[in-house]
Amino acid sequence: MTNWRIRDFYSADLDGILHLWETLKSHNLEPVYAISEVVASCEKDHAVVAVQGEQVVGAAVGRAAHDQGWIVFLATLPEYSDLGVGTALLAAVENRMAPHGLNKLSALIPESETRVEAFLGRGFALKQNLRYFERTIPVQRQELGALGQLGGRVLARDLWDNVAGMRKEKELLERRLVLPLAEADLADEFGVVPPRAVVLFGPPGTGKTTFAKAIASRLEWPFVEVFPSRLAADPQGLAGALRETFLEIADLEHAVVFIDEVEEIASQRSGEPPSPLQGVTNELLKIIPAFREQPGRLLVCATNFIRALDTAFLRHGRFDYVIPIGLPDRQAREAMWQRFIPSPVVDAVNVELLVARTEGFSPADIEYAARSASQQALEKAVYDDGRLASVGTASAREALRKGPSTQDYLDAISETRTTVSAEVQQDFLEDIDALGRV
Ligand SMILES: Nc1ncnc2c1ncn2[C@@H]1O[C@H](COP(=O)(O)OP(=O)(O)OP(=O)(O)O)[C@@H](O)[C@H]1O
Ligand SMILES: [Mg+2]
Repeated sequence: MTNWRIRDFYSADLDGILHLWETLKSHNLEPVYAISEVVASCEKDHAVVAVQGEQVVGAAVGRAAHDQGWIVFLATLPEYSDLGVGTALLAAVENRMAPHGLNKLSALIPESETRVEAFLGRGFALKQNLRYFERTIPVQRQELGALGQLGGRVLARDLWDNVAGMRKEKELLERRLVLPLAEADLADEFGVVPPRAVVLFGPPGTGKTTFAKAIASRLEWPFVEVFPSRLAADPQGLAGALRETFLEIADLEHAVVFIDEVEEIASQRSGEPPSPLQGVTNELLKIIPAFREQPGRLLVCATNFIRALDTAFLRHGRFDYVIPIGLPDRQAREAMWQRFIPSPVVDAVNVELLVARTEGFSPADIEYAARSASQQALEKAVYDDGRLASVGTASAREALRKGPSTQDYLDAISETRTTVSAEVQQDFLEDIDALGRV
């Protein structure tokens, strides 16, 4: 065990590196960098191996990032420890990296690693009081191209928490969709087949689009919206463009795919001669089974007009759930008002009263009323009270800084026409009975 020598890494040494890796793991020294990263650095960055004859008995792999170099892997076979192999490997890899103008060389090693002599022997200082944090970025670099092509994006992480109220709907979506998709292995152990496609239906402005985005945000999956109206302009026609789009989506690792106003491309197939959209509906009916076969994705379709949908479209096996998203109840309206009223004034406003006066309002209606109250109050404070000329002075600004009052909100509420009529609401309740499936 004395005839070992150090040389540059060759591709043929990969098996040896893998063997070292396995040896570390079998000694419970969980390496910090994944084997794929180590292999990538062997090929693209700097790597040296210690060999005894033809056998790889140690390796050091480094990566330069601007001025700082990182040792991403250092290992020797156990029977080669205490022979100075580690120190020699570090020296060699540092030599290879030095020409890149590094001013610091760092290494992160498992806490359980006992053989720190190699680092100390090469003049590395052990830093105290450091903690290691790691977060896996949900979309991998190689996917970004495909995602950009589709107009998809990763949404902000807080959309789910920002959905005010709607506790029942949130809990339902959390249990039926998020749980089995986010905990796929656990779901599998329980024999739960994760959902692949759902329909959200309900009157306008109740939050269907908001929920679709919130689900993507909650799962940390990219959000891809498919716009049939844009695809219609494609030279290969809507059906062809739809097929093409779903083929591209198949290349993504994960995605929440959203089709809004799906009734426009999946309405009742009827009439003579058949409408030109019939081909599109048929195409969509073919696309969904293929989509369902791939894990890691969820199709969310939204509609205001569920009874217009083709009956074959909604049947079991195509969509796992057909979920109503209705008008907000008291509690949800309260949560929304709390969200929309600026926090410095919210305590001075009679929120209870606003909640009572906005029965039958959709979230979109409440948001509209809140915004117009703010705008009216601002205008009133600045213009009507004749203070415009002096608005720049500190005392005038202070006098203005009252924000909207309960009355401002009540005025805005009485001027807001609700979107959802009693009739539409009645139809919705009937649709829940006839078509809802949760
Ligand atoms: N739970 C909620 N909390 C706060 N704001 C909400 C909530 N739900 C919806 N909104 C707001 O209400 C507006 C309408 O919501 P959204 O667009 O999601 O409704 P929709 O059901 O998709 O409407 P449409 O049927 O017209 O497509 C949006 O501006 C959204 O931000
Ligand atoms: Mg919408």
